Amino acid sequence: MSLLPLGAVHDLVSPRLREALSGLPASVRELAFLHFDSCSRPDAPLDVGKLYRAALTLAWNRALGGDQGQALHAAVAVELVHNASLLHDDVIDGDRLRRGRQTVWALRGPAAGILAGNALFFLAVQQLNTAGDPLSTSGVAELASAVQHMIDGEWADTRVPQDADAYLSACEGKTGALIGAACALGALTAGATEHRIGQVRAFGLHVGAAFQVTDDLLNLWGDPEQTGKPHRGDLANGRNSYPVLAALGAGSDASASLRSMLVPGQASRTAMLERCAELVEEAGGRAAAGQLAARHLEQALTILDHACPDGPDRRALAALAHQAARRST
Ligand code: IPE
Ligand code: MG
Repeated sequence: MSLLPLGAVHDLVSPRLREALSGLPASVRELAFLHFDSCSRPDAPLDVGKLYRAALTLAWNRALGGDQGQALHAAVAVELVHNASLLHDDVIDGDRLRRGRQTVWALRGPAAGILAGNALFFLAVQQLNTAGDPLSTSGVAELASAVQHMIDGEWADTRVPQDADAYLSACEGKTGALIGAACALGALTAGATEHRIGQVRAFGLHVGAAFQVTDDLLNLWGDPEQTGKPHRGDLANGRNSYPVLAALGAGSDASASLRSMLVPGQASRTAMLERCAELVEEAGGRAAAGQLAARHLEQALTILDHACPDGPDRRALAALAHQAARRST
């Protein structure tokens, strides 16, 4: 059982996030608060999401004996980058719903989504600068490199990967890079060696891959009440997710039927989406995605055994890794 449950992470990180956001110029602050479901009143609650990346930063810091005060700056920074990427991603994907609410671009136009995202990216850098060394030096380098990798993956994703390998490399960037950096920054704030930080980053990359493939499964078969995102939005918008690519690549009759249905603009009615999802399952895409997530989880856990001493902190990190691959379906 995790010693740093997500509720505790929320209590630690949420006030810091609010404080950071409060420093934005008034007009952009309003847009940022809109994303976090709050008017700018100082006491209004923020919906900050799961804070999964912050939890990993704090857990690695603690597991390697670091100072939590430093790690909190890093935790806030990774969440700011994550939310910046979501603001932009919703513009790119044309998605109007996130966390069960209207997205900023849907409410105020694409410029609002883009500019609020830009503001949060740089607020993350300011957060690391405030913390001083090593976050203001190696930490900025770690985060900046992850953001470049994330942008690379996000761009590759917009090119609609046509096979599982292309997809996996895109998702390693778009999702894995930041989760890897979240873990690495936790280790950095604990004074870990470069070798150890490398192991911790690799753990995060595998956790990130498991997270994304599970996200793909949830998009097709999850409860939209829980995901807060449009049900089967990936299929409806012609985005190739892992279960679909695995199904198409299986070479069965169901694969061929699925291919014939995935004509742009065709698969948008609920009944069509339902049929496509059935065919993905029939062609083995659902099972293949589950197995892939499990393999990445396994690889993350193997690295964890080498990178972290046995004990409650290692168990907390293992629990977080499991959470990435076994979110509710
Ligand atoms: C989001 O990818 C990746 C980034 C924000 C960099 P997706 O488009 O697959 O994720 P959701 O479904 O919108 O959250
Ligand atoms: Mg998206």
